[in-house]
Amino acid sequence: MIIENLALYNYRNYSLLNLKFNKKLNIIIGNNGEGKTNILESIYVLAITKSFRDSECENLISFNEPNGIIKCKLNKNSQKTELKIEFYKDKRNKKIYINDKQIKTYNDYLTNLNVILFSQNDMDIIRGAPSIKRKYLNVEIGQMSNKYLSLVNEYNKYLKQRNDLLKKYDDKNESNKILLEILTSKLIEKGSLIYVYRNDFITNINSKIGKIYQFFTGLSNLKIKYINSITFDNYELSFIREEMMKKFNRIMSKEIIQGSTLIGPHRDDFIFDLDSNDLSLFGSQGQQRLAIISLKLAEIELLKESTGHNPVVLLDDIFSELDKVRRNKLLDFINKNIQTIITTTDIKSINKKYIKNSKIVTIKNGNIYKEEVE
Ligand SMILES: Nc1ncnc2c1ncn2[C@@H]1O[C@H](COP(=O)(O)OP(=O)(O)OP(=O)(O)O)[C@@H](O)[C@H]1O
Ligand SMILES: [Mg+2]
Repeated sequence: MIIENLALYNYRNYSLLNLKFNKKLNIIIGNNGEGKTNILESIYVLAITKSFRDSECENLISFNEPNGIIKCKLNKNSQKTELKIEFYKDKRNKKIYINDKQIKTYNDYLTNLNVILFSQNDMDIIRGAPSIKRKYLNVEIGQMSNKYLSLVNEYNKYLKQRNDLLKKYDDKNESNKILLEILTSKLIEKGSLIYVYRNDFITNINSKIGKIYQFFTGLSNLKIKYINSITFDNYELSFIREEMMKKFNRIMSKEIIQGSTLIGPHRDDFIFDLDSNDLSLFGSQGQQRLAIISLKLAEIELLKESTGHNPVVLLDDIFSELDKVRRNKLLDFINKNIQTIITTTDIKSINKKYIKNSKIVTIKNGNIYKEEVE
């Protein structure tokens, strides 16, 4: 898929921006603080409906303005779609439109524009708390499947009800007992499917990530290990359900004492395993960075396979951390009919041979200073 153009109105430090993109490589140059990441962020927001750096949508609106708009024209196999999100500061909310028609359920929207973002924050996927890793899984699987996102929403709704009940649980109260049974079976029904989705995603990533990591480093034993609050011998739905039920029966009294649901996909985690070592504990900074890059490249392939389209790739200033050889390898990997938007403070960080035919945009203080095609 290709973003043909992007329009911003009162978004961060852009009062008005209209930017046409090249089908392949686009390079956004500018000094610190001029607005490079803001452009990538706006594209990410159009795809995911939330920013990767701020959870409050009103912060995306320019200072002292009541509302802001992000808009793009998307081209998928020559089929054109206009996506638009409008943010309102006073109501602290947003409205989403496809071809000027308002969309009420966000889950149906998220599979339209697929993006893979590479940014400095990515290291959190290795080193961060399990909640960050679960968020990552939700965003990425959600780009491929709107059914998955509705499952997660439903699961979270039942989880909250079950936790509320556990906090005030009275075992002499018959209706408490019945309600707990119902909510437990709902968590098993929805949770088991979430396990299957996540395990499928990780299995698919593992079928690719080893050889990609090898392409960068010469070593091939990188994989992702999925870690659950229940040990599953396999991820067959009926088996998962049975194991969840058994474990709930064993720990229910503990859950009542603690007033909280102790097992389920809301406790999931994963680690990067390099030669049987946890990369977050034993990996060098460079190894961790290349593991993340391999993960994201594996995702590009996976998205292409599952949706039939290449995602749009966003690289936010990550070249400064890579040596020349790795930079070129990364660009070699992406450079096949994938629309890519790169930000950098220094064009020299990109090898001339990739710059040919690319679009170069220089940004100064929220304005286009120069626009050229090499
Ligand atoms: N809501 C907002 N309204 C107006 N300006 C904003 C808003 N939020 C952020 N900014 C401004 O946007 C600028 C930062 O933009 P951005 O993060 O895109 O910079 P950058 O070019 O990526 O810089 P760096 O090279 O340091 O990463 C800052 O000057 C900041 O004050
Ligand atoms: Mg930046």
